[in-house]
Amino acid sequence: MIKNIVDIKMTQFSNLNLAKGFIAFCAVLITAHAASAQDAAVNSELLAQGEEVYNTIAVIGCKGCHGEYAEGDLGVGPFTRGANEGMVSAAVSGIGEMIVVKNVITDEQITSVSAYLNYLGTAQVARSLVKRGRFLPEVFSARPGTRLQVILQNGGFDAHTFKSDNMGIEDIEIAARTSGNLIWEAPEQEGTYSLYCTDCKLDEQYFTININASAPEFRKVAPGIASKGDQAGLYLYE
Ligand code: HEC
Repeated sequence: MIKNIVDIKMTQFSNLNLAKGFIAFCAVLITAHAASAQDAAVNSELLAQGEEVYNTIAVIGCKGCHGEYAEGDLGVGPFTRGANEGMVSAAVSGIGEMIVVKNVITDEQITSVSAYLNYLGTAQVARSLVKRGRFLPEVFSARPGTRLQVILQNGGFDAHTFKSDNMGIEDIEIAARTSGNLIWEAPEQEGTYSLYCTDCKLDEQYFTININASAPEFRKVAPGIASKGDQAGLYLYE
């Protein structure tokens, strides 16, 4: 009998604690949610500023030497996806070829362009060239949960619009002889996704993105390692 009362008290006590704990937990969740929404907003603004700097600084932009997506594909400046602020500051102040940038860049711009490059380093490039309505390559494979930067190069003389029915993305309009890109977080489940051209002469051509667990693993990249001539996009950074 006594034991029962104690039990009841204990139960009530722990229920109350649970309730208190739950309220505290909710408060944490709400705060965390507000903070992360705010972080995301600040972050996307910083990234947009960084992208602008990357494309336009000193007229030619960083892209004029490091390539449109920082892959070092122009043969002038090296691969810089994943560079952090220390690397960018050191390059701006120490690399002779970058004098045009050094003369005009502000500390704020160094911060934003570094954030942008660092973010690009977290995304695996999935690229396809669209020529005469065909995608080259037609298929790209990546692991579930990978952040992909899908880059479509329009190799034709007309602008085209690309669409996906199952990736949950907005349509991408790409002017003639330029490229368009978007960041897409691959789902955690395996699956097959695709993009197609809405106004190319050839119908029924797809850029297929296979999300499967046996695809090669993408690791964040370190510019210093990738620029030593190895394949970019497969190195651990941090
Ligand atoms: C006029 C061409 C040019 C422009 C513009 C330019 N860079 Fe560079 N950058 C280079 C070259 C060339 C190197 C490599 C020099 C070397 O390896 O000796 C380099 C190196 C770097 C490195 C070091 C990479 C490594 O592997 O250590 C970083 C980071 C970098 N640049 C970032 C930037 C950023 C950010 C911008 C724009 C704000 C920019 N660069 C603009 C030519 C350029």
